[in-house]
Amino acid sequence: MITAIIIISAYILGSIPSGLIIGKVFYKTDIREHGSGNLGGTNTFRTLGIKAGLIVTIMDIIKGTVATQIPNLFDFSEIYMLLAGVIAVVGHMYPIFANFRGGKAVATSGGVILGYAPLLFIVALTVFFLCLYLTKYVSLSSMLTALIALIYSLFTGDIPLIIVMGALSTFVFYRHRANIMRIRNKTEPKIKWL
Ligand code: G3P
Repeated sequence: MITAIIIISAYILGSIPSGLIIGKVFYKTDIREHGSGNLGGTNTFRTLGIKAGLIVTIMDIIKGTVATQIPNLFDFSEIYMLLAGVIAVVGHMYPIFANFRGGKAVATSGGVILGYAPLLFIVALTVFFLCLYLTKYVSLSSMLTALIALIYSLFTGDIPLIIVMGALSTFVFYRHRANIMRIRNKTEPKIKWL
C-alpha cells in the first residue's frame, strides 16, 4: 500500500509540467509550439529567455530531488529513493497533466542524482558545463553527462544506483533521438551565451 502511495505521488510530482505552467501563466505561451517543441528547461531558455529558463530548470530539478525524499517519510530503504526518482522522471517525460508530452529526462534525472548521490551531481554538473562550453550543444552535453554519470556509478559499487543510472541514461538517449539526427545533419542549434 505504502509502495503504491510512493509510486503514485512520485509520478504525480514528476508530471508537474513546469515549462507549461511558467510559459502559459507568465508569458501566455505554450513552449511546445516553439523551438524544439520540448517541454523542458532548454526550450524555455530558447523561447522565453534566461529568467524563465532558469526557473523551469530549477523546478524540474527539484521534482526529482523531492521525489527521492518521499520514501524517507515512511522510513523506507534507500532503494525506494531511487525507485521514486525513476518514477518521477517517467512522470516528467510522460506527464499526466500535459497529454503525456513532457521533457527529455535531463533536469529531473539531475534532481534524482542530487537527492541520492550529491557528489555525483557535482561531477555531472561539471561535465555538463565543460561539454557545453566546448561544443555549445545542450543536447550533446546532456547525453555525454548521462553517459559519464553512468560510468561513474559503475565505480561506486552501489548496484541499485548503477541500475538506475542505466535506466536514466537510456531515457536521456531515447528522448534525444531527434537531437541526434539534427547533430548528424548539422542542424542542431548551438547556444550563443557561453
Ligand atoms: O534537456 C533537454 C536538452 O538536452 C535538449 O533540449 O529543446 O534542445 O531538444 P532541446
